Amino acid sequence: MIIVTGATGQLGRRVVERLLTRVPAHQIGVSVRDPGKAQAFEAQGVRVRRGDFTDAASLAHAFEGATQVLIVSVDKMGDEAVKQHRAAIDGAVAAGARRILYTSHMGASAASRFEACRDHAADEEALRACGVPFTSLRNGFHAASAAMFLGRAAQSGTLALPADGPVCWTAHEDLADAAAAILADEGRFDGPTPPLTAAQALTFDDIAALAAEITGRPITRTTVTDDEFRTQLTASGVPGVVAEQLLGIFAASRAGEFATPDPTLASLLGREPTPLATVLRDSLLKG
Ligand SMILES: NC(=O)c1ccc[n+]([C@@H]2O[C@H](COP(=O)([O-])OP(=O)(O)OC[C@H]3O[C@@H](n4cnc5c(N)ncnc54)[C@H](OP(=O)(O)O)[C@@H]3O)[C@@H](O)[C@H]2O)c1
Repeated sequence: MIIVTGATGQLGRRVVERLLTRVPAHQIGVSVRDPGKAQAFEAQGVRVRRGDFTDAASLAHAFEGATQVLIVSVDKMGDEAVKQHRAAIDGAVAAGARRILYTSHMGASAASRFEACRDHAADEEALRACGVPFTSLRNGFHAASAAMFLGRAAQSGTLALPADGPVCWTAHEDLADAAAAILADEGRFDGPTPPLTAAQALTFDDIAALAAEITGRPITRTTVTDDEFRTQLTASGVPGVVAEQLLGIFAASRAGEFATPDPTLASLLGREPTPLATVLRDSLLKG
């Protein structure tokens, strides 16, 4: 049985949907914090069990019978995230899984300027040490994050952000498709994958131009200093620690950590990955 965690989140849900097109439902299980949110999968014959990385006993139950476990990283950064991922790895090892998959990030490195990438490097160390073969999916930067930073720029006409560098913004759908393909073809990648990215790296200058083209409204991209950005964020109620994490994304992109596209995702999908323009169009025109 293939177990997928985070199956009520943006990426995990799509992985299960794609996996259902490749593997019989009774060979898929989800480990979720709230089984009530996974009823649609249960109705399709997927095994739904409660599993929380902060509760080892729940993982023993949720991972029971696992051949492979896909650990979807949690929506936080820092020591607590790494601790929870270690608990999930321990749970998968204890369940007897023969391969562990994990959603890492392009540029995962102890030397990264972005905290999440340092966390992922620590998690990959834990995977190397765990004694079970693993695949670390080095996912490109989520295109949804570009849409999040774009925010209401189409309405205000201004995109004010710190200086940035090019980023391979990559669609959730494509990353989910790739994860499902790799789960279904067990052992295709051993250790960290090449970066799984869209075909192009784009800056926020490019993104402002794309959004203007999509909406037909002019958008001026202006550069604020890191200090100004931090002050704006904290003034609008963003906790200081989160502001630093967001600034880390800009520092890392300026250093080129997310800049190099790789053809592996296209070859896994058998088609060109979704351009950022498509993701932005969906997000800008739906609301
Ligand atoms: N590559 C990138 O650019 C990028 C960008 C942002 C995030 N990420 C990483 O990729 C992950 C998946 O992205 P996403 O868009 O699917 O995020 P998401 O929708 O926030 O999903 C995160 C998932 O983690 C689960 N989770 C949180 N705490 C948990 C715990 N203690 N035990 C078990 N599960 C727990 C959540 O469960 P619930 O459904 O119960 O809330 C949720 O399903 C993120 O969590 C983050 O680590 C990557």
